[in-house]
Amino acid sequence: MYIQTLMLAAKGLGLDTCPQAAWVPYQEPVIRHLGIPDNESLVSGMSLGWADHAKIESTLVSEREKISEVARFEGF
Ligand SMILES: Cc1cc2nc3c(=O)[nH]c(=O)nc-3n(C[C@H](O)[C@H](O)[C@H](O)COP(=O)(O)O)c2cc1C
Repeated sequence: MYIQTLMLAAKGLGLDTCPQAAWVPYQEPVIRHLGIPDNESLVSGMSLGWADHAKIESTLVSEREKISEVARFEGF
């Protein structure tokens, strides 16, 4: 929820994001670089900046379920 809020705030400021947990198994250099204490660990990371829309990876548009498939609105 925290990451989503940060992503929405970034979008509102014209920035792009990409959360990724895939690099967490390789977090040791990040922990060392940022001086993160031994009793803490990373659970996710998030790139923050401006997307390069000329890159092919920026053109991916993932499919979404219809809202009616995942939620039911009553009384609206
Ligand atoms: C907390 C979090 C961690 C994520 N980690 C990864 C990841 O490690 N690898 C990956 O390919 N996508 C990961 N994703 C998904 C991508 O960030 C992104 O949502 C995905 O490329 C699909 O884009 P879409 O959300 O527009 O459908 C993660 C998403 C969240 C919210």
